[in-house]
Amino acid sequence: MHSIMEQIQTKRIVLGLTGGIAAYKSAELTRLLVNQGMQVQVAMTEAACHFITPITMQALSGKPVFTNQWGEHTANHMAHINLSRTTDAIMIAPATADFIAKLAHGLADDLLSALCLARNCPLLVAPAMNRQMWESPATQRNIQQLLADGVTILGPVSGMQACGEEGMGRMQEPTELARALLTFFQPKLLSGVKVLLTAGPTYEAIDAVRGITNRSSGKMGYAITQAALELGAEVTLISGPTALSSPHGAALVNITSAAEMFEAVQKHVADANIFIGVAAVADYRVAQPTGQKIKKSTGGLTLELFPNPDILGYVAGLPKPPFCVGFAAESHNLHDYAATKRKTKKIPLLAANLAQQAIGADDNELILFDDTGEHVLPRADKLTLARALLQHIVKLYRQGNKL
Ligand code: PMT
Repeated sequence: MHSIMEQIQTKRIVLGLTGGIAAYKSAELTRLLVNQGMQVQVAMTEAACHFITPITMQALSGKPVFTNQWGEHTANHMAHINLSRTTDAIMIAPATADFIAKLAHGLADDLLSALCLARNCPLLVAPAMNRQMWESPATQRNIQQLLADGVTILGPVSGMQACGEEGMGRMQEPTELARALLTFFQPKLLSGVKVLLTAGPTYEAIDAVRGITNRSSGKMGYAITQAALELGAEVTLISGPTALSSPHGAALVNITSAAEMFEAVQKHVADANIFIGVAAVADYRVAQPTGQKIKKSTGGLTLELFPNPDILGYVAGLPKPPFCVGFAAESHNLHDYAATKRKTKKIPLLAANLAQQAIGADDNELILFDDTGEHVLPRADKLTLARALLQHIVKLYRQGNKL
């Protein structure tokens, strides 16, 4: 049984570039895909070569670039057939309005369009164009046609455009496109499954400007959100204040305090099949926060604190709870505290980490506690760990639900 990353590393991609200013971003996209271990074969239209050179793309992909149908690359002059038969997917990034129109109508007057028409593999298209071109009825009709033909459309996104206008039409960032491709190749083990997640810190107000919080960045919870989306889950992410942008495809609920997080969880939990509590929820809140800034005085300041509701405890205690996964951040005695916490909270799976190494960091190490014992997920970046954790969750969830 090969791991997901090993399976992805055997994938071969044709990356098609058409003539838009966003072509420069495809250089970075190529680098990201190659770093993930994919074989990337670049094909460019003549117009794309005006924006970025084939030499740049060859250097990054490590393969000669196909730019026309009549080149010497293939002995039989059937590059459009040969290329599409030896690839797992074709991604067009950037895809201009003109090229999208050609795809929608089945035109094949250059190598890239012929290759797309002759394909027997999935096609992913990342549009990039001026906002008026994107919004025009003709482009929208063509996009609808591509969707009806089973093409995956990635983006575009809204923002400042090269022409100086602002609006919808920017190509998705290379990291998003690389992520989308990874997602595309993963087996959808959680298709139809609803995952509810808490992430990040909570903030408990003391007065109008001060509060009690912690150093959770949200990175672990957002990585788990991404990993669940990759497996086809429908994800609701209830997040405390973070500087991160929500993974594309998750339903994001922003909250500030533990009480708000509790309320949001109560609202969404009835639908959830799996609940994962990654948030570093403040255990206490200030008994009486004031709406105005407390003035400094020469004396001390005493705050009365009340305990916050135990959100994970509440979910696990429901008459028909979802499959519950808790986290434990401990500064010492990790094994003992984590094993006890799993039993006290009555949850099937708990992921333990050392608080001082995990909180705010880009990488982490987890020890999973379940009915069969302990399982170490060795130090790695948080997305790699999240993917491994999700594989463990899927296994237990499927056993429990006899899937
Ligand atoms: O956000 P990062 O910077 O990436 O850091 C990740 C992390 C260290 C925050 C994360 O990996 C982690 O360990 N999260 C849980 C932190 C924590 O609050 O642990 P705890 O031992 O206090 O709580 C145990 C479990 O109960 C957790 O699942 C927590 O979400 C939940 N809990 C705690 C208190 C509370 N009032 N309600 C809860 O649901």
